[in-house]
Amino acid sequence: MKKTVQSKFPDNFLWGGAVAANQCEGAYLEDGKLMSTADIKARGFFGGIRRDADYYPTHKAIDFYHTYKSDLKMMADANFNIFRTSINWTRIYPTGEEATPNQKGIDYYHDMFTYCHSLGMKVMVTISHYETPLNLVDKYGGWDNRCFIDYYLKFVRTIVDNLSDCVDYWLTFNEIGNAAVKPICWDAAAIDPESDNLLQRMYQAAHHQFVASALAVKYIHENSSAKVGAMIAYKTVYPYTCDPKDVEAAEKEKRKEYFFSDVQVRGKYPSYIWKFFEEHNLDIKMEYGDEEVIASYPVDFITFSYYRSRVVKADEAEPAEITTNTLEGISNPYLPKTGWGWSVDPKGLELALLELYDRYQKPLFVSENGLGAIDEVENDQIHDTYRIDYMREHIKAMKDAIKNGVDLFGYTMWGPIDIVSNGTGQMSKRYGIIYVDLDDDGNGTGRRLKKDSYAWYSKTIASNGEDLD
Ligand code: BG6
Repeated sequence: MKKTVQSKFPDNFLWGGAVAANQCEGAYLEDGKLMSTADIKARGFFGGIRRDADYYPTHKAIDFYHTYKSDLKMMADANFNIFRTSINWTRIYPTGEEATPNQKGIDYYHDMFTYCHSLGMKVMVTISHYETPLNLVDKYGGWDNRCFIDYYLKFVRTIVDNLSDCVDYWLTFNEIGNAAVKPICWDAAAIDPESDNLLQRMYQAAHHQFVASALAVKYIHENSSAKVGAMIAYKTVYPYTCDPKDVEAAEKEKRKEYFFSDVQVRGKYPSYIWKFFEEHNLDIKMEYGDEEVIASYPVDFITFSYYRSRVVKADEAEPAEITTNTLEGISNPYLPKTGWGWSVDPKGLELALLELYDRYQKPLFVSENGLGAIDEVENDQIHDTYRIDYMREHIKAMKDAIKNGVDLFGYTMWGPIDIVSNGTGQMSKRYGIIYVDLDDDGNGTGRRLKKDSYAWYSKTIASNGEDLD
């Protein structure tokens, strides 16, 4: 018997772009919104959580709060059929503790998502993307405090009740595994990376997020027809050599990443994690019923961010090199790097898709991928061939994975319009196919310009990934 091999992107493939509310909206205290954890991240590598900085990039960002109509129109004109963003929790519940939601926040997102639909774009919403109400954190600490589950679920119920008519896909937590990665735990779990007993706190936070995520899946399934996905950060892991010790170290590292999707997809803590907990003297507190909840409400599909791969060596206790906002690990001599030291590895994306599909057999979606680079403007033109090359090779890699049987249903490139970098707070680390005239200090006209990659991506989408020249 012969079966036809899928050689193209499926006809209904979703093409678009992804942002996070806090990185683009600005208007940080407008229409009732109050501060979120993103709003005290100062500019600079590792941002720094500071109350006394003179400039916080998210406060103004690119003013998407006011410009979303023209920005989204540009994306739709580039043939996008999906737009991914998050809902800034503090627009809906400014302190997190209110009994009733802020209607202006609900209206804002309802208008935006309805507008996306009118432009022919589906809407994928990340419920929590690194923007927890600061009031909750100041009062109760981070996600290792169990009370966050209830605050989060109140938020979930409100947005599902009010926005289900215009949301197609929900993701419960952005890059959930980063709750247990220093220093990104501040973003993902609202835990200060300098705090005591950090590993214990981070994994406890992750447990609470698993429970919260499962209960969110339950609520969404019971109250809408939308699908709910996981969102993990995937960095394909390679052993440094074929020395079995390096291979073993790489496998261990992979399992640390897989832990999060294993729980969200398979609905239970994997057996290997208990040894890791024992080795690190971790004691994760679970309440009666937590395991049942996690088992009962797994996600429908898996999305992930993919920017680069990693190399792991047995005798390196910790990744050696910190080149930018996250741990780069050991340098891979076979791969070029971005200006921020991230390896450029399209093959790693194909491998990620194969590995995830082999492991779970669930539909996959690449919810973030892109190149952060410095762009030069000449006569209002930006010739970003480097970005086109990056996207072309990664799209080819997705196609190769599809040929190998992977069920991939969409791709949202990261930052279709230039936004504030999450890791470094820079505007100059640009991902967009649409340029925004603002610098790292927030100076500039805010004017939007189409980069060369804009026409290229529009054409690629129009051909459903066939015309990649
Ligand atoms: C992902 C995050 O990890 O990487 C985004 O979900 C982030 O919020 C993106 O912006 C790119 O990272 P950076 O640090 O270059 O903005």
